[in-house]
Amino acid sequence: MRVVLGVAGGIAAYKACTLLRLLTEGGHDVTVVPTASALHFVGEATWSALSGKKVHTDVWSDITEVPHVRIGQQADLVVVAPATADLLARAATGQADDLLTTVLLTARCPVVMAPAMHTEMWDHPATQANVATLSERGVHVVPPASGRLTGSDTGPGRLPEPEELYAVCERELASVAGSATPRQAPRGDLTGRRVVVSAGGTREPLDPVRFLGNRSSGKQGHALAEAAARRGASVVLVSSSSLPAPAGVEVVPVETALELGDAVTAAARDADVVVMAAAVADFRPAVYAGHKIKKSHGTGPDGAEDDSAPVVELVRNPDVLAGLVAARGDARSPVIVGFAAETGDESGSVLDHGRAKLARKGCDLLVVNEVGTGVTFGQDSSTVHILRRGSSGVTDVGPAPKSVVADAVWDAVIALL
Ligand code: CTP
Repeated sequence: MRVVLGVAGGIAAYKACTLLRLLTEGGHDVTVVPTASALHFVGEATWSALSGKKVHTDVWSDITEVPHVRIGQQADLVVVAPATADLLARAATGQADDLLTTVLLTARCPVVMAPAMHTEMWDHPATQANVATLSERGVHVVPPASGRLTGSDTGPGRLPEPEELYAVCERELASVAGSATPRQAPRGDLTGRRVVVSAGGTREPLDPVRFLGNRSSGKQGHALAEAAARRGASVVLVSSSSLPAPAGVEVVPVETALELGDAVTAAARDADVVVMAAAVADFRPAVYAGHKIKKSHGTGPDGAEDDSAPVVELVRNPDVLAGLVAARGDARSPVIVGFAAETGDESGSVLDHGRAKLARKGCDLLVVNEVGTGVTFGQDSSTVHILRRGSSGVTDVGPAPKSVVADAVWDAVIALL
């Protein structure tokens, strides 16, 4: 198939040579479009020799072939690796000031971008906003890996290994090949799959005006549902959040853990994947007072007003995730994904608690996120670690927009489908 490999000006451009090799060995016809800055790192001769084709470097050459329009129009996939902070900014604002950005504007096929830069540049709100914009538009943003950067510093910002990027490209190309209208379908690697996502924090009512709740906003669950729909899945979102329904998603509104459990269990019966992103309350008040509990509640034995604080008795809610795992038994479907909001404490780190929870819950993937006041809850970005059952490996994502975290979770799910 026809692949455009865009290369922006970062040191990781050398890794794109291996990606190019993998793509050509995979039988694809690859057109390399390096930016002017990329040519400072790897020259035109290298791209030309490895692709076996003429390399287009600017809009002013071969004008009669109209390369700035034709290359993008004819592509089955555009992959940009590395995508620098500058390239992400130009793509997010729709600029068309060089050949690669014009290709990005004319392409109607899936687009994969692999950002690579220093951690400070990746963390900057401007870069995060650009990544969120691109990902909401359907670009598959592969989050950068953590590790050694150009100098002696380390952190998130490394270009993922070429083999990993090649696997993402092949999956996108497979979805194009399987789609009836490939040039219209932004991404379709979940086409034909039925998925259920739960989102938000449950509210456990004490009386008509009060409830026990938690800080979950539902943003991550809604981002997961939106990403799944964009990737072709039919999606049921069981949500206790007041966020708007994502396009193309069936929303089942719920409030309490019991309602959420019933809705998820019913929808899970014919699902391929269930993602429990909701923050389900473990306990609910044992008694629901049908009227507002007053500050002074009744009179004591001596006839005086009882001004003591009421004691609220709690009872356990069922564990919905554990119920899904038990109902599945030895079957392999549905794939079940849990979330674990952890803070870490003296008995273990966030990851230690995550590994123990994965073993305890028996789900296939556990997305561990670091939480606390002002961290993750209600924010537009988060840091997560994706753990797999039966594997000691971990995929670190973020800090990244929740839309990017969502795509990384679906990438991990698809590997299990
Ligand atoms: N979960 C659930 N039902 C519950 C509680 C949690 O389905 N009653 C799910 C959540 O949706 C999440 C996962 O279980 O996917 C982990 O939730 P968490 O609150 O982190 O785990 P708990 O089992 O409640 O463990 P603890 O509070 O002791 O950390």
